[in-house]
Amino acid sequence: MPEKQQNRGISLPTVFVILGATGDLMRQKLIPALFHLYQEDKLPKLFQVVGFSRDDLDREGFQQMVQEMAAAKVQASPERITEFSKYFTYQKGAFEEKEGYKKLAEFLGYKDEAWKVCSNKLFYLAVPPQHYKTIFQYLHSSDLTKPCSPEEGWTRVIVEKPFGKDLKTAQELDKLLGKLFREEQIYRVDHYLGKETVQNILAFRFSNSFLEPAWNREWIESITIRLRYPEDIEGRGGFYDGIGALRDVGQSHILQLLSLFLMENPTTFEGDAVRRERAEVLRFLKIPKGKEVQTHTVRGQYEGYSRERNVAPNSRTETYFRITAFSKHPRWKGIPIMLENGKAMAKEDGSVEVVFKHPTPCLCPDPNKHFKNVLRYEIQPKEQVEMRFWVKKPGSKMQIEERTFAFDYKQAFRGEEFADAYERLLHNIIQGDQTLFVSTEEIMASWKFVDSILRGWEQQQVPLHVYPKGASTVP
Ligand code: BG6
Repeated sequence: MPEKQQNRGISLPTVFVILGATGDLMRQKLIPALFHLYQEDKLPKLFQVVGFSRDDLDREGFQQMVQEMAAAKVQASPERITEFSKYFTYQKGAFEEKEGYKKLAEFLGYKDEAWKVCSNKLFYLAVPPQHYKTIFQYLHSSDLTKPCSPEEGWTRVIVEKPFGKDLKTAQELDKLLGKLFREEQIYRVDHYLGKETVQNILAFRFSNSFLEPAWNREWIESITIRLRYPEDIEGRGGFYDGIGALRDVGQSHILQLLSLFLMENPTTFEGDAVRRERAEVLRFLKIPKGKEVQTHTVRGQYEGYSRERNVAPNSRTETYFRITAFSKHPRWKGIPIMLENGKAMAKEDGSVEVVFKHPTPCLCPDPNKHFKNVLRYEIQPKEQVEMRFWVKKPGSKMQIEERTFAFDYKQAFRGEEFADAYERLLHNIIQGDQTLFVSTEEIMASWKFVDSILRGWEQQQVPLHVYPKGASTVP
C-alpha cells in the first residue's frame, strides 16, 4: 500500500454498524478480526460497533455474546476480552421493518452529539444476499446514508459475496447502490484478496524478472486453479442451496485468483490500476456457449447433500464444478485454464499450478519422455511456492530426475505477524483503501462468464454427477 495511505482515517471517530450481527460471519470472521485490530491498537480512538439483528438482545446481552464469540476464537485474558466487548452495543431490528433503522439513526445522532463530531459510518451487510436490496432501501429512506456534515465524516457500505445471483440481479443491485453511494463508498468483499499469499502473487509475478518472459502462451502449456475442501457445507444449507459452488466460490475466489495470475503489469500498486487490470482479465475470458458448456464443464453433488438441513430433498445444486476456460487475450489465447472447486473432497487443496511446455528442441536423455517444469503456488493448507525442475542423477550415465525447490512462506517469515484476511480488509475499509475490494467492472465481467455456464446447466445440458464424500475428483 502506498505510504501516504498508511493510517489514513485510523484516528477519525468511527461507528461500525454490523447488520446480521448474531450470525456466522460475525462469529467466525468479524469478531476475531476486530479483536486483533484492537490488540494491535489499530482501531480508531473513538470507536463504536453497533450490532443490528432481529434477535431479542440488549446491550449487556450482546456484549456477553461478543465475549463468548471472542473467547472461542482468540487467545487473550478474560479481562482483555471484556474490555474489548465494551466497544459493542446493540440495536434490535428486522431487516424489512422501518422501526429498527429509525432507532439506529437516532442512536447514531446521539453518538455524534456525545462525541461532539460528525463521525465516520460503516455499514457492514453480514447477511445473505437476498436481504441486500431491502436493507439498502431502508438505510437510504431512514437517512442513514446521508453524511452528517458536507465537510467531515464519510459513509461506507460493505457487502459480502455473492453480489447478486446472476448478471441481471448484480446489475440491478449495482444500479440501486449507485443511486445511494458513489463507487468509492462501496466495498465489495472477496476475502481471498485479503489473504497474505494471494497478495504475494503480485510481488511474486512483478518483482521477479525471470518469470515475465515466460509468462505467456509460448512457454506455458496449462494453468490449473483448485479450491478443494474436505468439509461439506457444514450446516449452511440455507445459504448454499440454490447458490451452489459456482456462485459461491467460482464467481468470486477462483476468478480473482485467475485475474491475479493472468493480469498485465498494473505499473503501480494503486487501487484503481490494480482493479482495472484484474477486470481486464475477466473481460477477456471466452464465454462458453451452447455445446461448449457440455464439453468444457463438469458438475457434481456429494452423496447425502440433499439430506442436509435446509436443503431441498430434490436439490440440483452443485457442490463441485470443473471448468476448462480460455482467454481471448493475445498473451493467453489457446491455453487451457482449469478451474475446480468442490466440497467434501479427499483433502484441502487451494493452489494454482502452472505447467511449462516441454522444451523444443530438447536436449533430453529420453526423447519419449516429457520434461516439463511445474510451478505450484499453494495458498492452503500450506502457504508455499514450489518449482519442479530436472536434475542429473549422480553417476556415469546422463539420466535426469524431477526434484522440487520449495519456499515455505510461514517458515521463512517465522516470527513475523500474518494478519488474517478479514483483519486486513477491515483495516483497509477504515483507511479507505479499495485495492483489495472488487470493482463493478470485475463483478459484471465475472457474472457474464458464470451466467452462461449456469444457463447451460439449467437447460440440463450437463449431468449432475453424484460423488462419494472424500472423492479426490469428479470424473
Ligand atoms: C466462502 C464460501 O466465501 O469461502 C465458503 O462461502 C468457502 O463456502 C470459503 O468454504 C472458503 O474460504 P477459505 O478462506 O476457507 O478458503
